[in-house]
Amino acid sequence: MTTSSPLEPVPSFDYVIFGATGDLTMRKLLPALYRRFAEGQVPADARIIGTARSPLDDAAYRERALKALREFIRGDELVDATVERFLHLVHYVSLNGADANGDWASLAAKLASNDPDRVRVFYLATAPDLYGAIAANIDQKGLRTAHSRIVLEKPIGTDLETARKVNEGVGQHFPENSIYRIDHYLGKEAVQNIIALRFANPMLERMWDHESIEYVQITAAETVGLEGRGGYYDGSGALRDMIQNHLLQVLTVVAMERPSSLDADALRDEKVRVLTSLKPLDRHNLAANVARGQYVGGTSAGQSVPAYRDELPDAAPSKTETFVALKAEIDTPRWQGVPFYLRSGKRMPEKLTEVVIQFRAGEPGLFGEARPGSRLVIRVQPNESVILPLFVKQPGNAFGLDEVDALSKLGEPGRVRFRDSYEGLMLDAVKGSPALFVRKDETEAAWQWVTPILQGWSDAASGPDAYEAGTWGPESARALLAQAGHQWVEDLAA
Ligand code: BG6
Repeated sequence: MTTSSPLEPVPSFDYVIFGATGDLTMRKLLPALYRRFAEGQVPADARIIGTARSPLDDAAYRERALKALREFIRGDELVDATVERFLHLVHYVSLNGADANGDWASLAAKLASNDPDRVRVFYLATAPDLYGAIAANIDQKGLRTAHSRIVLEKPIGTDLETARKVNEGVGQHFPENSIYRIDHYLGKEAVQNIIALRFANPMLERMWDHESIEYVQITAAETVGLEGRGGYYDGSGALRDMIQNHLLQVLTVVAMERPSSLDADALRDEKVRVLTSLKPLDRHNLAANVARGQYVGGTSAGQSVPAYRDELPDAAPSKTETFVALKAEIDTPRWQGVPFYLRSGKRMPEKLTEVVIQFRAGEPGLFGEARPGSRLVIRVQPNESVILPLFVKQPGNAFGLDEVDALSKLGEPGRVRFRDSYEGLMLDAVKGSPALFVRKDETEAAWQWVTPILQGWSDAASGPDAYEAGTWGPESARALLAQAGHQWVEDLAA
């Protein structure tokens, strides 16, 4: 399989990963770098240097890397000789990045180079409260060069205050234009395609406002439960884990005004404007605008699965939400009166991320009663596609109508491989292309909007509503839309 776009050249680089024995590195980062290497985009002199506390040497870390590649990459993509060449690029230094007394000398020795233009990327995939200390050490040990960037994995903080702390901590040692906050949803082809769809099709661009659109739904549903991440997830919950970052990022590309160009700052200026125009949700209006749920036991993919609290290590009672649905409103002339319904949950009936644009119904006319409004569906995953139903004449029936789907697949299954979102983003950091990364003011604007919801919940006596695993969430999520006479897309389709 090939990817469709030509390969952009990438300069020589060193990728230093902090948190190199962790799940994200094994599941996503190493496989992403391998794939770009296998397709010829990683220069042969690149170095990938893992650091973590475990006392490993290069050989032992390469063993782990190999195991991860075998586990997380499909067999036909793994070619022994390519894997072997890739593993030669991989090195390891046993180092706690937050400890100024750690073995920074070994890291410096591995990074030694005569090439002043060589790019250095520091990827922080550790606990976010260490980011400030790691950035300080990198800087104070003299490892930050003129061509260095630092990539921050989510979550950037757990509320506005902690996010600011992370940003300030890192910002004291790296200039903002070298800080790359990653949100892997921006690396998804179908999310990037929303920008093309909106601004490369004048027909859609003209219809993209409150006069034509009745409401928007953005859903990111997952079938999985905790996947052994209870320690992290129970302190986070769906609002922080999915809505604050991924879904709000999707919302910004759906709702932003036309940027003056596709430059990183032009795009991000418009995205920030969407976030700062969101009408506040807080304890005074939460009940009418936000539903939260936690799954109890049920059936997922034909198997019976336990309740959330039984998946927690100590099966403790917990008020953490595994599902959120909310109604967001954007206070701009374009979007007056248009609800944006956002929802995300674990243990849903299917793994599905999609945006539904519901257009307004027509007037009764030539063809009888009023036609329901069209529904443009942007399927982010799986089966990346754009679906727009149109009415056409029924063959052989003078004035009867049929509804057909104008369908555009973003790629031809079997021929074009969609890159994993980390592949493009990791190399964008090398190339110095920040357009698909989240700027400081964007992260803080998102937290500014989300934090009062969290505060409202923590003040509330009640907790999340129960929903059965394998369903579309609690009844309160349906009630949220019913107030305006709207329905979630699966109910419309039923
Ligand atoms: C991560 C969340 O950021 O995104 C996970 O921490 C979630 O809880 C994942 O499972 C979903 O990503 P994707 O790409 O599978 O939709």
